[in-house]
This record gives sequence, structure tokens and C-alpha cells, in this order.
Amino acid sequence: MLNPTSAAVVRATLPAVRDHAEEITGAFYARMFAAHPELLNLFNRGNQATGRQRQALAAAVVGYARHLLGDDPVPWEPIATRIAHKHASLGITPAQYPIVGRHLMAAVGEVLGAAVTPEVARAWDEVYWLFACELVAREARLYHAAGVDDPAQAWRDWQVAERTAEADDVVSLTLAPSDGSAAGTFVPGQYVSVAVDLGGGAGRQIRQYSLSGAPGLPTWQITVKRVRARAGGPDGVVSTYLHERVGVGDRLRLSPPFGDVSSVGGDGPLLLVSAGIGVTPAMSALQDLARRDPGRDVVLVHADRTGTAHPLRRHLPALSRAMPRLRLDLWYEHGDADIATGARVNSGRVDPERIPLPEGADVHLCGPLPFMNHVRAGLLRRGVPGDRIAYEVFGPELLTA
Ligand SMILES: Cc1cc2nc3c(=O)[nH]c(=O)nc-3n(C[C@H](O)[C@H](O)[C@H](O)COP(=O)(O)OP(=O)(O)OC[C@H]3O[C@@H](n4cnc5c(N)ncnc54)[C@H](O)[C@@H]3O)c2cc1C
Ligand code: HEM
Repeated sequence: MLNPTSAAVVRATLPAVRDHAEEITGAFYARMFAAHPELLNLFNRGNQATGRQRQALAAAVVGYARHLLGDDPVPWEPIATRIAHKHASLGITPAQYPIVGRHLMAAVGEVLGAAVTPEVARAWDEVYWLFACELVAREARLYHAAGVDDPAQAWRDWQVAERTAEADDVVSLTLAPSDGSAAGTFVPGQYVSVAVDLGGGAGRQIRQYSLSGAPGLPTWQITVKRVRARAGGPDGVVSTYLHERVGVGDRLRLSPPFGDVSSVGGDGPLLLVSAGIGVTPAMSALQDLARRDPGRDVVLVHADRTGTAHPLRRHLPALSRAMPRLRLDLWYEHGDADIATGARVNSGRVDPERIPLPEGADVHLCGPLPFMNHVRAGLLRRGVPGDRIAYEVFGPELLTA
């Protein structure tokens, strides 16, 4: 809770902070990286270059201030959970919070100038530390649940046991712990952070990849879409590295699994809707259910450009055989033949009005944001309650502040 004096100041200055939030977070990153260049290896440089991380942080801080004032434009809990899981997968520690706080508050002063009286600075400092304490506590619980005592020591070396071409520009890497220890378990929908040393003085970069195989096996699997240069941007750094430079026998450093968007709990009907590489969490869920709960009523709706672009499609015939109540509804922009799964194959883009909708289903979406917004809006129109629709974004979440 903010103290009442700070709450009044935050309420009065929120419009100014909101209007300049991205300028503030942009100035924050510049200041923090100048003082701590080693943090450039922790943060995603692609998200820095495109401004996505700046936007995500700005939206989170403004959203949290509104939450403290009792004015939640969107439910707060899933947002805080998501940030904490992302932080935990990166090994963020409590000792790093004062660094972020110092540079964030300095950036507020730099951008808003004389408007930041000592009283205003105190009020926003309180907002920052309430947020920081909440995240530190959530992250401590996640580390504890994952058996992590020291986040810096939680990363493990894994060796690539297999490399499988899955679709146009998509490979799966099957990974086994290098020291011969057990892989450990995870919940379908969880992801790992993968850290790669780029070599040539380019430093280290970390990205998240959903685990795409079944849990409970001696190996884990990730499935990576190569991000090609487009719209003036460069090739994706880590996906290109994994495609071009990582083969069988090579080692990768992985975090423990984190992430809270899982579809396999409960026993009711499930609707999994994915597009492109967003199919990875759904495929992990289906492979898990095929072993544990094959009679489950599940619909997989998947959208892709063509059948040959559809990642992990080769598993669908076996899943269909194992799961008698699995319905497959595939949407290919450029048409395609069925692959002997009994799937309904549609031509064109997903029409949410035509998605098979089991009564009372829990819905899980994963794909590009515009795709998910389109499908979500359609399902809401068809009467699916918002709190039954979970979604995973393969990038920093852009919140509506
Ligand atoms: C929870 C989660 C799960 C994920 N699961 C998967 C998965 O299962 N499979 C998968 O393939 N991916 C997954 N991702 C996405 C993955 O983490 C990476 O984001 C993806 O591989 C791209 O990383 P990259 O390093 O190749 O690209 P980056 O180097 O990060 O580039 C990303 C984009 O930014 C653009 N960009 C970079 N620099 C600039 C610049 N200077 N100017 C303009 N544009 C620029 C690039 O052109 C590119 O389009 C997941 C992400 C999350 C958060
Ligand atoms: C109250 C303080 C903080 C807030 C509000 C905050 C907020 C956020 C948000 C909103 C995201 C994006 C999450 C997503 O992917 O959806 C994020 C990611 C991240 N945060 Fe924090 N954070 C805080 C503290 C820290 C600290 C102390 C560090 C460590 C120096 C840190 C490092 C990171 C990194 C490395 C990422 C991933 C960046 C990327 O992939 O682009 N954060 N944070």
C-alpha cells in the first residue's frame, strides 16, 4: 500500500509520467548500460533496438502505479506473475534491484526536470520499491519451488543429442544434461532461457524457448524458428546462431524451466490455438496428455502459411491415433493436403467464428499478438469468458497502460 501522501502525489503526477513513460525508460536504459556495461549481456539487444523492452517496462511501471491507486485497467496478477517468471528464468537477484531503482529514478528526474520536487521523487521511489519488493518476493518463491538456492549457479550445461529439421527454417534440438544427471521435470507450457556466447567479442545473449516435447523423458526438446532479416531489421541473433552454429555434440547453457501458462491442469475440455512457431507449448501439452490422459477432449487449431511451414506437424498422426477425442483444425493460407490425421484443413486465415468450441473449454493461445487479439476477440464474442482464455507471447508483453 502507498502511504496516503504519496498516493495523492502519484495520482496527481501519473498523467505526466504516463505521457513520458517511454522517454523515461529509454533514458533509464542508456544510463544503466553506461554505468553497468556488463548488463548488456543480460538484456535482449534486439528488444533494446526495437524499443520493445522500453515499452514493456514503461507499461509495467505505469500499470503498477494504477494498480496501487486501485485503478486496474487490466487484471494485475497475470502481469506480475509473468514478469517474475521471466526474471527467474534470467536469474535476476535482489541485489540488482537497487541498480535499476537508482537509474530509473535518475531518468525520471532527467526527463521531467523541475516537476520532480523532492516530494514527487519520494512518492515514485515508494512506487518503485513496492514493485521491487513484490517482484523479489515472487521470484524468491519461484527459485525456492525450483530448488534454486543461488540463481547464478542455476544454469546447467546441456549437450545436443539430436537435431531435427521440422519445417521451413525450424529445427528441434534434443538436449541431455552434459554431466549425465537427470533432465528433471517441467510442466508443458514452461520455457527455458538459453544463453549463448556469440564469440568474436560480441558477448552473450539470452532468449527464451518453450519446451516442445513431453515432460518426464531423459531429454528435453526446444524447437527454434530462424528469424530472418525483414523490414530493415537484421537477422535474429540467437535463432541464427542456433541454426548455423549448434549441432549434435555441442553444448548449450539452459536455465531451469519457468513460466506459468500451462494448459494441462484439470480434466475439462481444452482448446489450443496456435500460429507458426507458437505451436511449441501446445505440442508439449498434447504429447503429455497422449501419455497421461489420452481420452481428454482437445481441439488443436493451428494456423500457418503452408503445411510445410507448420512446425512439428509430423507428430500429429501419432497424436491422433493415441487421442480419440483430439480434433485437429488446420488453417493454411495457401491451402494444403491433409496428412492422414483426419484433420479439417481450411484454406486462408483463421476465422474465429468457425473454430470448434467445446462447451466449457479452457482456451490457450500462442502466436503473434495480432493473431491472438483477433482470435481472443472472436471467442469473447462467442461467449467464452475472458478468464478462461490464457495466452503466451513470444516477446516482452506490451501492456495497455
Ligand atoms: C516465453 C517465450 C517462449 C518462446 N518460445 C519460443 C519457441 O518455442 N520457439 C522459438 O523459435 N521462439 C520462441 N520464443 C522467441 C525467442 O525467445 C526469440 O525471441 C526468437 O528466437 C528471436 O530471437 P533472435 O535472437 O533470433 O532475434 P533478435 O536478435 O532478438 O531479433 C528479434 C527481432 O528484432 C529485430 N531487430 C533486432 N535488432 C534490430 C535493429 N537494430 N533494428 C530493427 N530491428 C531489429 C530483428 O530483425 C528481429 O526481427 C519465445 C519467447 C518467449 C518470451
Ligand atoms: C521493479 C523493478 C522491475 C520492473 C518493474 C521490471 C519489469 C520488467 C518487465 C515488464 C519485463 C518484460 C517481461 C516480459 O517479457 O513480458 C522485464 C524483463 C526483464 N527484466 Fe525486469 N523489471 C524490474 C527489475 C529488473 C532488474 C533488477 C533486472 C536486473 C538487472 C531486470 C532485468 C530484466 C531483463 C534482463 C528482462 C528481459 C529483457 C528482454 O528480454 O528484453 N529487471 N522486466
